[in-house]
Amino acid sequence: MSIPSRVKIVEVGPRDGLQNEKEPVPAAIKVELVHRLQDAGLKEIEVTSFVSPKWVPQMGDNAEVMAGIQRRSDVRYSVLTPNLKGFEAAVPTQPHEIVVFGAASEAFSQKNINCSIAESIERFRPVVQQAVEQGIAVRGAISCAVGCPYEGDIAPERVELVARLMRDIGVQHVGVADTIGVGTPNRVQRALEAALKHYSVNEVSGHFHDTYGMALANTLASLQLGIWHFDTSVAGLGGCPYAKGATGNVATEDVVFLLHGMGIETGIDLDKLVDAGKFISDFLGRKPNSRAATALLNKRANAAS
Ligand code: HMG
Ligand code: MG
Repeated sequence: MSIPSRVKIVEVGPRDGLQNEKEPVPAAIKVELVHRLQDAGLKEIEVTSFVSPKWVPQMGDNAEVMAGIQRRSDVRYSVLTPNLKGFEAAVPTQPHEIVVFGAASEAFSQKNINCSIAESIERFRPVVQQAVEQGIAVRGAISCAVGCPYEGDIAPERVELVARLMRDIGVQHVGVADTIGVGTPNRVQRALEAALKHYSVNEVSGHFHDTYGMALANTLASLQLGIWHFDTSVAGLGGCPYAKGATGNVATEDVVFLLHGMGIETGIDLDKLVDAGKFISDFLGRKPNSRAATALLNKRANAAS
């Protein structure tokens, strides 16, 4: 399999990135972040999630954020919908794509969405059916695809099972998610290969949290399998509130630096992306959690002095 010449990035910073922030981030800041990301050339943005505000208060402004975005016709906006209630609330906000999120680990499924894997599939079934009927694309996330904070190592067969169940109910694309960032390249490749038993290489993405610093290596390992869709988060923001100790997604800036360095096209302007990351990091009162962003910001500061 040759390395892809082009990669599609789904920017998940506004959703996965901000969902775990303890202090409320105003909707206007989230909207401004989305605007800056689309100005930087991101064509797919995961904006928010229609989950219970009791479970994830930070996403309680979902409809307000969706309404505040000045949309571009060449950008697709996606949202998470765990059940019909979330889907029905999401539809009026006109997402291009919805994401149902399950897990390869029973314990994580219980902690994150309060039901078993089998029950989650039954909850997703009508959501997927209605989305497809309404022309809304459907992505599925498979959390804990290599390791689980409660169950430890997860076998590829578990990923294959969830991929098969998602395929059966009509999910069009699956994300293989290393929720707690414990994956190393070989194990991530096994998890991806499990999903590839039921989905084509054009229908599988990598979603890597960087807790142990393995996410770039895992991105390269995925490219070696021909995978060309990745979820990444500007400034490395993020983490799942139900995966304690897990840090953010791999930084979009770092992945873009890697890809451009390999001659792989993304359509993203790295300088503008660094600005977007700095904008949200300044708001949160911290430095971007991205080596590439840090290096480029230092370079700018040195050039100015
Ligand atoms: P539940 O408590 O079992 O739900 O939660 P329920 O159906 O029993 O309803 C209980 C209450 O919640 C009711 O309200 C419902 O109306 C309300 P009450 O009558 O008590 O006032 N409710 C909702 N409200 C708003 N939106 C909804 C909704 N559904 C029910 N959609 C539920 C089940 C799935 C809702 C809950 O567990 C939940 O919201 N979980 C979401 C957790 C979450 O967002 N996690 C982070 C995203 S996943 C992630 O980050 C992983 C990913 O990045 C990939 C990776 O890295 O692994 C995607
Ligand atoms: Mg995630």
